[in-house]
Amino acid sequence: MFPKPIAAEVFRVLQDDGSFVLNIGGSWNEGAPTRSLYQYKLLIALVEEIGFHLAQECYWYNPAKMPVRAEWVTVRRVRVKDSVEHVGWLSKTKYPKASNLRVLKPYGADMLRLNARGLKETTRPSGHVINASWDKMKAPGSIPGNVLEEALPDDLLKFGNNSANDAYTLRCKEAGIAIHPARFPSALPAFFIKMLTEEDDICMDIFAGSNTIGATAEKLERRWIAMELLPEYLDASKYRFESF
Ligand SMILES: C[S@@+](CC[C@H](N)C(=O)[O-])C[C@H]1O[C@@H](n2cnc3c(N)ncnc32)[C@H](O)[C@@H]1O
Repeated sequence: MFPKPIAAEVFRVLQDDGSFVLNIGGSWNEGAPTRSLYQYKLLIALVEEIGFHLAQECYWYNPAKMPVRAEWVTVRRVRVKDSVEHVGWLSKTKYPKASNLRVLKPYGADMLRLNARGLKETTRPSGHVINASWDKMKAPGSIPGNVLEEALPDDLLKFGNNSANDAYTLRCKEAGIAIHPARFPSALPAFFIKMLTEEDDICMDIFAGSNTIGATAEKLERRWIAMELLPEYLDASKYRFESF
């Protein structure tokens, strides 16, 4: 379980309008093809025992996840592989600072065509009335959903991904330093940093690893604080900042 004393400290130091975003990998019960309730119990404990509010549940769509436990997925073929990780967006108060206008996606071709043609008032099979006020695009892009690969705007996906060829990986290899084995793609923190903070706000990563979040925050002109147990990971993270 994510340590509750650490969660309580995060709550204590967070600004009143601040957010705490937690990626929870999820796990399976030992010896059975059934799911552990860990991530649900953790979210409930963070809300009911620590005092956070659950602002939104998001899902990081990651089709590259390994088919684990192999016994149940690739050998006995009981269940399908996982392709999402839970990301809990928690806040200190009910009204965290946030704006989806900072993470809008470009409109798709269908929406652009519809807007050019104009819309007739109609009632959808779901019962939703689409009226003339939908006729004009009110924002410069479409609102992302909470399944995060689909939600990530193109410009966020382009910078600093964690491929085998990024600067961090290449420089670690050159220097013979261990590459962090569990790095985020930078697009994931970039989405939350943009939506939940503005320039000069502070982003703190308490389990920083290779400091993907610090480097992403730096690119987005936020201030950042990184904490990491193993000094060699933090030492190698300097390579993320060489091109700045
Ligand atoms: C999943 S990794 C984070 C990877 C990071 N998101 C990245 O992109 O590189 C979690 C990190 O938390 C660190 N860690 C574990 N317990 C910690 C603690 N009590 N304080 C600080 N760091 C800790 C581990 O050493 C590990 O590097």
